[in-house]
Amino acid sequence: MNGDAPDLNQFKRIVFFTGAGLSAESGIPTYRGQGGTWQRYNYEDYACQRAFDRDPEKVWEFHEARRADAAGCEPNLAHRLIAEIAQAKPETEIVTQNIDHMHQRAGAERVIELHGSLWRVRCDRTGLIEENFDVPLKSRKTPYGDYWRPDLVWFEDPMNMETIDEAVRVIQRCDCLVSIGTSGLVYPAAQLPMLAIAGGAVAIEINPEETPISQSFAYTMRGPATEMMRLLWPEA
Ligand code: APR
Repeated sequence: MNGDAPDLNQFKRIVFFTGAGLSAESGIPTYRGQGGTWQRYNYEDYACQRAFDRDPEKVWEFHEARRADAAGCEPNLAHRLIAEIAQAKPETEIVTQNIDHMHQRAGAERVIELHGSLWRVRCDRTGLIEENFDVPLKSRKTPYGDYWRPDLVWFEDPMNMETIDEAVRVIQRCDCLVSIGTSGLVYPAAQLPMLAIAGGAVAIEINPEETPISQSFAYTMRGPATEMMRLLWPEA
């Protein structure tokens, strides 16, 4: 850890910017690195609109397996500490790249999901979006006979501009940004911590490994999310 991590109590508007590494200790695989999802699957066959248009059943097989995996896991201490901080500090915001709903399951009430959610489906004919926690799905098709579309931002998808605008708004006004468990490789999400730093926020990176954006952070905490969050918020 470079220097002692700052006392979070000095901040009023903390943003937690989270990636797949935050859920690693819950047993949900990350995307890159050892055992990562994109080491085992080619995203072009499972997680882009072209694949869905080509073979929706194959794409749903993949996403139903991800749903079952996530449903079988529990939020970890880091998820719970983040929810606790959000409870103690009402202007805390959570901006996540994760789609696993773990923040909400740990008790967080406001979560900005940049890449959508495994637990929402949408009908691209009507724009209807529904929460759906069935494992497995009762039906992969809408009442109109079309396939439900996972409400996710896949590779090559445009971002949801309302979601991005909301994320930018909260990040530009934060006084501390804690980035946890992201490789900082996927844009535009990876750009967001830079906005906080440009705005004068104190930036902390929690990751066992160095990332391409590490040098922008005032503090880097080289360790797993649960241990580093325990150091950041010993109150628990
Ligand atoms: N605690 C904290 N960080 C961890 C832990 C842990 N226990 N274990 C691994 N990490 C770190 C890894 O070092 C890596 O830097 O988590 C990061 C995971 O990186 P990715 O797998 O690339 O996940 P993420 O950054 O969230 O990916 C961004 O890419 O595939 C798309 O849409 C997908 O949202 C995802 C986006």
